[in-house]
Amino acid sequence: MATLTVNGTERRYDGDGDMPLLWFLRDELGLTGTKFGCGQALCGACTVHVDGSAVRACQTPISSIEGAKVTTIEGLSGTGEHPVQVAWRELNVSQCGYCQAGQIMQAASLLKDIPNPGDDDIDTAMSGNLCRCGTYPRIRAAIKQAAKGGRT
Ligand code: FES
Ligand code: FES
Repeated sequence: MATLTVNGTERRYDGDGDMPLLWFLRDELGLTGTKFGCGQALCGACTVHVDGSAVRACQTPISSIEGAKVTTIEGLSGTGEHPVQVAWRELNVSQCGYCQAGQIMQAASLLKDIPNPGDDDIDTAMSGNLCRCGTYPRIRAAIKQAAKGGRT
């Protein structure tokens, strides 16, 4: 059993506490923006924020975050106007899109911690978020653009 606040709304789960947060978000709440990739904390597709930090939802048992505040891509900005989302759109970062919610959540976490990141900061923070389409150059450029444009 666990009680969480997801995108500002309190949610309760009465099932198996070992269930990964990812399945609670996708299957119980219908928040399918967060993707399943590897299931082993190796690809970053399932990245969400837990109490403001980027975590891999596929390897986060729901009982381990009792009382936490969870933010998914759907809740990052009510209007889709978070500076990272704006920069992503302006630079057409996405290709197939599958990895991109995780990339955006990881980038937003980076900019919260380091408002003006250099290349090394970006590479370190984003190294666990894989993109099979190879959008890495645009991801890096969009993070720098979002940093210049300020943050919400
Ligand atoms: S699905 Fe969670 S890191 Fe790959
Ligand atoms: S945009 Fe296709 S996997 Fe990243």
